[in-house]
Amino acid sequence: MADRVVHTRRGDVLIRAAREGDVEAYRELRLEALQNHPDAFGSDYATAAANPPEYWTERLKNAGSTAPAMFIARAEGQPVGLCGLARENRPKSRHSAELISLYVPSAWRGLGVGEALVKAALDWGSKHGVRIVKLAVVTQNYFAIRLYERCGFAPYGTEPEVIYLNGRLYDMILMYRRIGASASGAAVPKTTGGEAAMLIRRSSDVAPVRYGNGVEKRVLLGPNQGAPHFVMRTIDVPPGQSSPWHKHEWEHEMFVLAGSGVAVREDGETAISVGDAILVPGNEMHSVKNTGTELLRFICMVPLSGEDNP
Ligand SMILES: CC(C)(COP(=O)(O)OP(=O)(O)OC[C@H]1O[C@@H](n2cnc3c(N)ncnc32)[C@H](O)[C@@H]1OP(=O)(O)O)[C@@H](O)C(=O)NCCC(=O)NCCS
Repeated sequence: MADRVVHTRRGDVLIRAAREGDVEAYRELRLEALQNHPDAFGSDYATAAANPPEYWTERLKNAGSTAPAMFIARAEGQPVGLCGLARENRPKSRHSAELISLYVPSAWRGLGVGEALVKAALDWGSKHGVRIVKLAVVTQNYFAIRLYERCGFAPYGTEPEVIYLNGRLYDMILMYRRIGASASGAAVPKTTGGEAAMLIRRSSDVAPVRYGNGVEKRVLLGPNQGAPHFVMRTIDVPPGQSSPWHKHEWEHEMFVLAGSGVAVREDGETAISVGDAILVPGNEMHSVKNTGTELLRFICMVPLSGEDNP
């Protein structure tokens, strides 16, 4: 694979196939991923950390043959992302590969590095005769699922109870994408409404309103899209930050898409995480604080009168 450079607002990021000289960076990124995101991967940190140095060297030495083809992102002299493509070895399955080990450290997220790594892996697959790429992603991993959809992956099922961690069971969404000779049509399905009454809008096409503390709001659907009564927004709250402490006459209906934090009331606070729906009645003081280490994203619905910039 030819090296490629992604221009981001933090500077240029180089994406290339990992080489034997990247062994330390590979080990470091993989262990960091498993340690910081135990609920995102089937592998576990303790087992991976116990592997001897030769394990990592061998994997990179044989990358793309008996070991997965690995791709690494580098910027400012350090590794800032990893992704792999593990090809089936049996003769009747060599057209198929699995996308694995995608990871971007939190300081480098939201810049398109993850997407560029996935595309590098898909390009490599196309050139080496892979025709279908599959992956499994935990159902709560909203940012990763959206990234895979942007890269042309579609779901084909859900595998129940794949991960059991700290007393909790996690299902995985199975996704696939055809590449190379078998890919047909556009990589990303068309999702705008055309003549139809139904409108589908990509949230990544919506420019955010940015507040001083790093909080971002996207007004996804409102009167400009033909919704006369309700406005749907997403709010992104970075770690350590909060939405304003305030009240208003209308109620809020919120739903947590990613991250974790607390819903704050005058008499206390309650932990919230992915999958929680929160109703704030009208005239109740409230805010939402991100107490986690990842971006907190939630849907926040208001009536038309509740949005200054619908
Ligand atoms: C999933 C992951 C690789 C995405 O990498 P990335 O380089 O941030 O990807 P992108 O730049 O395309 O951004 C993806 C989304 O993450 C959001 N995001 C998540 N954390 C962010 C942060 N700290 N800062 C800014 N944006 C962030 C972006 O807003 C973007 O949202 P959008 O899809 O609504 O536009 C990365 O979040 C990660 O490493 N997660 C932990 C490991 C993991 O889950 N791996 C996948 C296993 S299947």
